[in-house]
Amino acid sequence: MNKLPIGIFDSGIGGLTVAKEIIRILPNESIIYLGDTARVPYGTRGKEVITKFSQELVNFLVQQRVKTLVIACNTISATCLSELRNISPVPIIDVITPTVEYAVLSSITKIGVIGTPATINSGVYEKLFAKFDKKIKVKTQACPMFVPLAEEGLINDKATELIAKNYLLGFKNIPSLILACTHYPILHKVIQKTVGPKTQIIDPAKPTAKALKDLLSQSNLLNDGKSITYKFYVTDETKRTAEIANLFFDNKFPGKLEKVVLD
Ligand code: DGL
Repeated sequence: MNKLPIGIFDSGIGGLTVAKEIIRILPNESIIYLGDTARVPYGTRGKEVITKFSQELVNFLVQQRVKTLVIACNTISATCLSELRNISPVPIIDVITPTVEYAVLSSITKIGVIGTPATINSGVYEKLFAKFDKKIKVKTQACPMFVPLAEEGLINDKATELIAKNYLLGFKNIPSLILACTHYPILHKVIQKTVGPKTQIIDPAKPTAKALKDLLSQSNLLNDGKSITYKFYVTDETKRTAEIANLFFDNKFPGKLEKVVLD
């Protein structure tokens, strides 16, 4: 069981920001990543479709035999976490709970949350913050254009700067800002420049990877690192997908993309 891989999934390649952090803090673990590049974005779709697509991703990874699953996607975590837990025989870590727990510990009073329309409209961040700490003020904004900009690798582009200025008008100097979409960390520089240097930007990858490490160690599921493998599956692939995936890994992609067909 300990030698089985960790399954990580996202609507596209944004979840690679989480995979990268997991590989960094759990170098002895094998990984299977699945990105639904044929159907990205999920964040502008409704609950029924997001749930159906996500269940297909879980079924695929469960068939590959994984010891645990990580939803490297805020949209899926916000929309259908309980539905996925219902069909999964292995534990599932989401990106939202560990991120909110981390932010609550950092004793802030006002926090910004930016994400896809599905994540922001779900109200999940407001609900979770209210559960942990009623005093924290949460200001949210949907930024639907950020996902195609990230998937296109337009990380230092004038168009990205203009769109960021438009979305983040009310976030100047906000004390903390959660990048509540796993695609957004690649746009980190533009976002930081737009909100100003005083804002602490929170990338869910770190708290999520830490929550996974805690779960594996508490359940005695850590691997010893012998003969580990990395597999990166996508549901559609072009030359550009591979280039952007490499960009998400700071040009050190630890494997190659393989195209798969979901049942
Ligand atoms: N990476 C996904 C997230 O964290 C969003 C991408 C999409 O819209 O499919 O929300």
